[in-house]
Amino acid sequence: MDYELFIKKVNEFIGIDLTNYKRPQMERRITSLMRAHGFQNYSEYLEVLKKEPNQLEKFLNHLTINVSEFYRNPNQWDVLAQKILPEILRRNPRPKTWSAGCATGEESYTLAMLLREATTGFFPRILATDIDEKALAKAKAGIYQEKAVEHLPPYYVKKYLTKVGDAYQVIDDLKKLVNFQKHDLLKDPFDTNFDLILCRNVVIYFTNEAKDALYRRFREALRPGGILFTGSTEQIFQASQLGMKAISLFFYQRKD
Ligand SMILES: C[S@@+](CC[C@H](N)C(=O)[O-])C[C@H]1O[C@@H](n2cnc3c(N)ncnc32)[C@H](O)[C@@H]1O
Repeated sequence: MDYELFIKKVNEFIGIDLTNYKRPQMERRITSLMRAHGFQNYSEYLEVLKKEPNQLEKFLNHLTINVSEFYRNPNQWDVLAQKILPEILRRNPRPKTWSAGCATGEESYTLAMLLREATTGFFPRILATDIDEKALAKAKAGIYQEKAVEHLPPYYVKKYLTKVGDAYQVIDDLKKLVNFQKHDLLKDPFDTNFDLILCRNVVIYFTNEAKDALYRRFREALRPGGILFTGSTEQIFQASQLGMKAISLFFYQRKD
């Protein structure tokens, strides 16, 4: 069995279509994991994945890389707080927001903090989605090691996190604002009328075709004038072809 047949079978069996992910990276990750567990070839590995939930879980964990942190790439969050959010709130004082590919929740909670600070008399609700249920379980628990909060300004740490031993826990009032849900960006339907979508450090593993199709769908999910916030290595070079306009580095506005 070759790589192509293996990922076809994986899709039939667990519903994740790996043809949308860059082949060299994916193939390397899968073969290294397979060998690390002592399996010689794809057919043997596939049989094991079907029979042993434990191996399947390891396989899924290895494919999705959940690294995240609060206020990741601080300059970009500063731009969001100082320039982008005030403009969004001017257009709509009750903005609808989505943290897409939220991993373990640090990004979603950071957004919740910023929205809480920027609004009064409004209970912001943030949709936060990821394909990985284990990451979502961690996100809901909201407990993080010190490293995750390294770049979060002390004001936010003090106000929205409590120290539990060596770790930090998100306070309940903030947790209530974030609605974590399982969602596959490559196949599940999107909600609409968002004022702001964050999709950061997610598409780096997608093929160019999958990335373009996703950005087109994000555009449709935004309201006119709505903003997409991408990751540092995910600049959209042909934004206008996708019906978007770059308004700042890493921020794209739906053009109509
Ligand atoms: C590196 S994390 C990014 C976390 C956060 N956005 C940040 O920038 O810190 C990438 C996340 O993308 C998720 N992901 C990968 N493919 C996905 C898909 N098809 N649909 C939804 N999430 C996906 C992974 O599960 C992982 O949690």
